[in-house]
Amino acid sequence: MSTVEPQPPAPHTVTLHPVEEADRLRLFTWRNSADVAPFMYTDHQITAEEHNRWFDGLGQDPSRLYWVICLDGVPVGLANFADIDLKNRRCAWAYYLASPSVRGLGVGSFVEFWMIEYAFNVLKLEKLWCEVLLSNEAVWKLHQNYGFQQEALFRGHVIKEGEPRDVVGLGLLTSEWAARREAMRARLADKGYVA
Ligand SMILES: CC(C)(COP(=O)(O)OP(=O)(O)OC[C@H]1O[C@@H](n2cnc3c(N)ncnc32)[C@H](O)[C@@H]1OP(=O)(O)O)[C@@H](O)C(=O)NCCC(=O)NCCS
Repeated sequence: MSTVEPQPPAPHTVTLHPVEEADRLRLFTWRNSADVAPFMYTDHQITAEEHNRWFDGLGQDPSRLYWVICLDGVPVGLANFADIDLKNRRCAWAYYLASPSVRGLGVGSFVEFWMIEYAFNVLKLEKLWCEVLLSNEAVWKLHQNYGFQQEALFRGHVIKEGEPRDVVGLGLLTSEWAARREAMRARLADKGYVA
């Protein structure tokens, strides 16, 4: 009787494309969903009017850049830079994966690598930083894996569900990334992703 060798999982491909008009409704649905809103600073039900105002403003604000994250060609999340400050050569960033079904597949790791590379190699910044709810431990630990240092703990910084919540501030310098990027590229390769 022949034995069937276990096969490795099929490799996935992650791509990011700039947000376009076709994404308007998708982002509205994602942002209000129970799988995304709890991780955001504001978790009220966003109205269509509020969303359209935000969406229409994207193209007119050079301090912000947004991409839709696709897994094997299917839109699964959103990544962005905010407060792009060319004078001080830094910017903030954030992302989410909209569906829990695509979490844990390495997509977040790929996005982390891609965004860091974009900030330092394309925008030529010196520093990338972010804020994460302290309760969102999976995310700030992932950032720390990529070299982000904790720079702040903002106590009672945002009100979520009526309660003050703590926020962690993290930062990564281009020099720190240079020392870390090949190790992180190798780690991504182990997960089946080519960055
Ligand atoms: C957090 C998030 C972005 C991670 O993306 P992901 O694709 O699931 O992460 P990956 O599969 O690349 O895993 C990265 C690492 O995080 C770990 N991880 C992922 N989810 C985790 C969880 N819920 N708890 C603990 N660790 C977790 C993985 O084990 C992996 O560790 P490793 O590199 O040592 O193997 C994604 O789960 C998500 O979108 N969460 C909700 C929205 C959110 O929090 N966005 C960020 C707001 S600032």
